[in-house]
Order: sequence, then structure tokens, then C-alpha cells
Amino acid sequence: MCGIVGYIGSGQAAPILLEGLARLEYRGYDSAGLAVRDGEHDVEIVKAKGRLKVLSEMTDGGRALRGDCGIGHTRWATHGEPSTENAHPHCSDDRAVVAVHNGIIENYMELREKLIKNGYSFYSQTDTEVAAKLIDYYYKKYRGGPMEALARSMMRIRGSYALAVMFRDCPNEIFATRRDSPMIIGVADGASYLASDVPAILKHTRSVYYVDNLEIARLNRSSVRFCTVDQEAIEKRPVEITWDAESAEKGGFEHFMMKEIHEQPRAVQDTINSLVRGEQIDLSGAGLTDEALRAVRQVHVVACGSAYHAGVAMQYGIEDLARVPVRVDVASEFRYRRPILREGELVVIISQSGETADSLAALREAKAQGADTLAVVNVVGSTIAREADHVLYTCAGPEIAVATTKAYSAQLVVGYLLAIRLALARGTLEPEAGARMLAELRSLPEKIARILEDKERIQWFAAKFSNAKHAFFIGRGLDYAVGLEGSLKMKEISYIHSGAYAAGELKHGTISLIEERTLVVGVLTQDPLFEKMISNMVECKSRGAYLMGLTSYGNYNVEDTADFTVYIPRTDPHFTPSLAVIPLQLMGYYLSVSKGLDVDKPRNLAKSVTVE
Ligand code: G6P
Repeated sequence: MCGIVGYIGSGQAAPILLEGLARLEYRGYDSAGLAVRDGEHDVEIVKAKGRLKVLSEMTDGGRALRGDCGIGHTRWATHGEPSTENAHPHCSDDRAVVAVHNGIIENYMELREKLIKNGYSFYSQTDTEVAAKLIDYYYKKYRGGPMEALARSMMRIRGSYALAVMFRDCPNEIFATRRDSPMIIGVADGASYLASDVPAILKHTRSVYYVDNLEIARLNRSSVRFCTVDQEAIEKRPVEITWDAESAEKGGFEHFMMKEIHEQPRAVQDTINSLVRGEQIDLSGAGLTDEALRAVRQVHVVACGSAYHAGVAMQYGIEDLARVPVRVDVASEFRYRRPILREGELVVIISQSGETADSLAALREAKAQGADTLAVVNVVGSTIAREADHVLYTCAGPEIAVATTKAYSAQLVVGYLLAIRLALARGTLEPEAGARMLAELRSLPEKIARILEDKERIQWFAAKFSNAKHAFFIGRGLDYAVGLEGSLKMKEISYIHSGAYAAGELKHGTISLIEERTLVVGVLTQDPLFEKMISNMVECKSRGAYLMGLTSYGNYNVEDTADFTVYIPRTDPHFTPSLAVIPLQLMGYYLSVSKGLDVDKPRNLAKSVTVE
């Protein structure tokens, strides 16, 4: 996602802008640029493809650019390849209007044509140049001033944008507006700042205004004024940012969720390491000796939310490998449905926090009935961990974001290890096959890391679908389990309604909801079910769906059907949820970010639900 920074004050703008852009580097970018002006002098624009370092070297760290007012940008290409020409800032031919932009203008082709008819020509392939020239067009046509030109442009532009604009006629001001792309304004003594996100300006000020959708801000050295698109003044209060400049806890990521997504290779590795001694999976520390495991006749998995989804995946793994029947329940149902538990049955409670009220009640119900209980918990010493007969800890570390990522991934891994050990103990899996699976399991962290390296593709895709109202996730077998989690991630943080369905069930009702451009995400990592999945996707496509396919490298013929395909590395089919879930987490995350939502603290949700 592009990064925007703006500054107007008494200092030299360019070094401040460069420093601000550096704080936004984590957002991903392929080129960068600055526009700076010195009083009445014309604006100077410097742009470069590649890292910020290039831009910094070209401008001697910004020192070569004179002026105390400017805007800067790091670009992530959406319209037009990464190049110096396409890098921002963009401007009208006479430089009367200079702009940087974050977002995607959906009707830019139509606007471009309109402008060409009115004598404009274009030097780049970007939608941003169109925005700059549209503002210029209205500015000159109606002569109503910058605010009016911006307001008129905002009425015409469809899509998302955060725009920072400088007008040649207003040497001491910067204008900013946004719709569905983030933008904040900071004020300090004698200077005003704007940015896509707080870390960019935190070194200079903690007093921050959050620009709301369709608001316009007008910044000068000593003040910031806000108004609506109808040019009515808005009274806004700055928010005092209390977190520290380094945003240390977030490790340079914009949100805890993204930081935690990136911590998954480590969480998976640590969890494997904690339950493997030498070359053997060893659960005896939790009292789950082979003898105890051989005695298990039935497993009940009980959990809430994402932990429940990890339980659904666990069901497929245990049944397939160990041939022990598994039933999965959401805890709030289990606790009240008078479950029938018999001797030799193991109740597994999965919970990140170890404090979820329904899961705890389910555990107590199971214990009251005399069942053997196993807690799969992340928080050491939590109530569920203390009360269960056996505990296997996930080693995900503290998880802050409400939407779980790394704890879920660690839960999946415990499920695999339990399934393999159970299968080995029961003799349904040969030791050599078990050893091969363990070796493959150990390769998961590196494979997850590889998927994360390619996250910009998902970011691009999410930006395209941020206006979606509905989405469907379909899959068969373990891919259905992954779909459940992908769908929940989308719902909880991006507020887009979505549902996950076993792909074969679609034609029994849900398919009636598929319309033109409805987003359908098909997960197809299970080779024996591949053809059947393709058929289900074709059924959706023929009803107008936009199909995203999520499959393993090698299954390239998915592209004959899907409109957009994401590939994950190949692995043992029992472990594909660990890889397939990553792009889906990223999709939920980027959708939320592109909608400007509170990723880490989505509305109405709590990290740990300790009430019924
Ligand atoms: C909340 C969280 C979910 C989580 C669920 C279960 O709803 O928002 O992310 O999966 O609780 O929590 P637990 O701590 O038991 O895993």
C-alpha cells in the first residue's frame, strides 16, 4: 500500500519527508518521490524507482531540495508498472496542481478520456495523474479555489483515495482528503504534518487528527482546518497518541496483526520443537504416552472461534491418520446439549487464552462426566490449562491482535503432532511414514515465510475488492476447514459478510446468492478432490462469480477457471491448512487496512470472551 507524508513548517521539508516515508516502508513500495517548494518558487519534483535510498542519494538526504513545504510518497504499483514516470507525485503540465495518492480510482479510464477531450495529455499510466489533472481541470474551469476544485473532483472520482495536494497559487498550504484510504494530520508548534499513518510523524508530534471519509483538510504552518465536501467547516479534536515513537511492540509493523502474521514461522517452529525430542514426537510430558493414546476410542474437540476451526482441521487429520472417530463442537453448544461421553473418550479443549467462558464450561462439563481432558492452550497457567487433565501448549507467544493468526497456526501444528503420534501409537501409520511427515512438518516455517514474501499480490487483490459486500469460501475436506478460518478473518476485521461452505453443499442453497462479480474463494490443495472443486468453481463462475483460486504450485490448470490465483508451496496434504491460511489472513488484513478499519481491535469483538 502506498505511503504518503506531507510537511509544512519552518524546517527543511525534504529530509523530514524522507524520514517519514522511511517509517512507512513496511507498507511495501516499488518507487518513491518528493515534491517540495520554496515560497513562491515553482515546485521541485524528484522521483525514483526502487528503494528510498535511491531517492535519498539523489537529493543528498533531502538537503539538496530547498523549501519548507512538501509532499512525499512511496508507491506500490496498481495502475502502470513500477517506474520513475509512474512514481508520485504527479502534476498538471504547468504544475499548477501537484498530488500524491494512495488508493485506487476505479473510473480513471472514463475520467482520462474526459480530460483528453478537454485538451489534457498524459505522461504516465497512473490513476493518480488523472486525479491531479481532474483537480486542475476543475480548478481552472470554475475558478472557485482549491477547496471547490477538490470537492468537485471528489464527486467525480469513484474508488478509494487519500490525496495530498499542493496548488501553485497557494504556496503556504497543503490540502488533503480521503475516502476509504487512511490519512492522518499531525500538528506541532509551527508545523503541520500529514501521513498515511501515525508512525511517519510520531517523532515530531503526538497530536493527531484522524481525517474521516470525504473530509477535506487545509494545512498551513500554524493551523489545520477541516471541512465537508460541501465546504462546511468541521470542528475536530486531535487525539493524543500515547504509544512510543518506535512503536516498538509492533516491531515496525503497522498493526499487531501483521506483526503476528509474520511471527507464524517462529510460532510453528517453536511449537514443533516443544513437542519433538530427537526425531520423535513426544507428548508424554503431558501424560499422553503411547499407552494412553492407544486407549482413546473417540475424540471430542471443543472450542470457539478460530480455535474451533483449528479443531475442524484436527478432525480431518486424526480421523485420516489414526482412524479414531472425532467429533467437533463449538463450546457454547457442547456445554448445553448434554453430551454423551464414555470411558476411553478424550475431550480436547482448544483455546488461545485458556479463559474463554464457554470453553471452560465445556471442559468442566466433560470433567464432570468423567472424561479425560486435554487442553491445547497458548497462555501458560490459564484456567483451562490448570483444570484440564493434560496440557499441550502452543508456543505462539503473546498475541495482541483480536483476530488470531499465530495462535491458530500453532494450534494446527499441535493437531498434526497429536494425529501423527496417535496414529503411530495405534499402528495406523508406519514409523518411516511418520518420520517423513515430521521432516515435512519441519519445513513448514520456511514455506510460510516464503508465502509472506509475496504478500503484495494479496494486497493488490484486497484493494480491488475492498468494496465487496459478500464473499464465499468453498473447499472440500481440509480445504473446507481453511475456508472457515479465511471467512472468519474476512468478517471479523474487514466487516465484509462472508460464508464458508463445503463446496459440495453449495448447490443445496448458497449458489442462489452468487451474482455478477460475487467474490468466491476456492481453496483446492487436496489433489484427490481437485477436479470436483474445479467443477464447483465452474458452477459459480457460470453464474457470474469472480473466482479466486488458492492452490499448490503445480496445479496451474486452475487458471483456466479462476480469475486470480494464489499459489502456496507443496507440502504433505495433511498440512496444507498451515500454508493456505496465510494468504487468507493477509486478505482479511489488507481488506481491513484498505477500508481504514481498526485492524487490531475490530468493533464489537474481544480478544478473550470470558462471559457467556
Ligand atoms: C474470540 C477471539 C477469537 C478466538 C475466540 C476463542 O472470539 O476474537 O479470535 O478464536 O475468542 O478464543 P480462545 O482464547 O478460546 O482461543
